[in-house]
Amino acid sequence: MDLNEIEKAAELIRNARYVVAFTGAGISVDSGIPPFRGDNGLWNTHHPIFLEIDFFHKKPLQSWIKIKEIFYDNLGTAQPNIAHEILAKMEQRSFVESIITQNIDHLHQKAGSKCVYELHGNYKQLVCTECNTEYDVSFANLDFLPPTCYICKGILKPDIVFFNEPIPHFAKTRSFAEAKKADVMLIIGTEAEVLPAADIPVVAKKNGAKIIEINIKQSQLTNTVTDIFLKGKATEILIKIGEFLHL
Ligand code: APR
Repeated sequence: MDLNEIEKAAELIRNARYVVAFTGAGISVDSGIPPFRGDNGLWNTHHPIFLEIDFFHKKPLQSWIKIKEIFYDNLGTAQPNIAHEILAKMEQRSFVESIITQNIDHLHQKAGSKCVYELHGNYKQLVCTECNTEYDVSFANLDFLPPTCYICKGILKPDIVFFNEPIPHFAKTRSFAEAKKADVMLIIGTEAEVLPAADIPVVAKKNGAKIIEINIKQSQLTNTVTDIFLKGKATEILIKIGEFLHL
C-alpha cells in the first residue's frame, strides 16, 4: 500500500469541488458478497444466462431458482463494511456528493449514504412483469417460486437490470449528469466490463475530472482513464483515506 499515493488522493478529494464515487462489486467483497469476475467470481461457477431477460421470461422458475440461491440467500444477511461506512461519512462531511453504484446489494444506503444512484437496480424491490406493481421483497414468499403478483397473478421479477435490459432512465440520466459535474471521481472495485456503466468514468474523465481508482489489481480503466491507482482492498485503502481526511 503506497501511503504517498493515498495521501495525494486524499488531498485531491479535500480540495475538490464535486467528488462522485463510482462503485462495483469489489467494495462489497469484504461484506461476504462475491464479485462477478476474478477470484471467486460468480461467473466462474454460474452461467450468467439466468440473468438474461429473454431467458427469464421464457423460464422464470429456472431463473428464479438461481437468483434466489445466488442473491437472496446471500444478500439478505450482508452488512455494510468499513468501506461503505467511510463513504457515507465522506458524504456527511461533504467530501463526496453522490455515489453511482453498479451493485444491487443496497449496502451504501444501509451504511447511511443518502445520494446513491443504483444503475443496476436493487434486489430489495420486486416488480410485476404484467402490471408493473412494485413490492418490497419482504412481501414475497420466496419458498414458492416464481413469486406472483397479489393483484394480477403475474410473475414477479427482481427490480435489477438483467442482461439485455435497459438501465432505468432516471438512474442513467442522473448518473451521467453527475459524471459530467465531477472534478474528482473515486472509482472503487470495478472491472468496468459492463456498458453503459463502464462509460461513466470515461465521461467524467472527458469532462476534466481527476480519476482515483481503488482495486486489488489493474482493471480496464487503470491504463486508460485512471490518474491515481491505489492498489489494495477497498476497506484498507478507504480507512487510510479516512485518516488523512480526519473523518
Ligand atoms: N477491494 C477492491 N476491489 C476489489 C476487491 C476488494 N476487496 N475484491 C475484488 N475487487 C475488484 C476486482 O479486481 C474487480 O476488478 O473488484 C472488481 C469486481 O469486478 P466485477 O466482479 O466485474 O464487478 P463489477 O465491475 O461491479 O461488475 C459490473 O457486471 O455482471 C454485471 O451487473 C453485474 O453490476 C455487475 C456488472
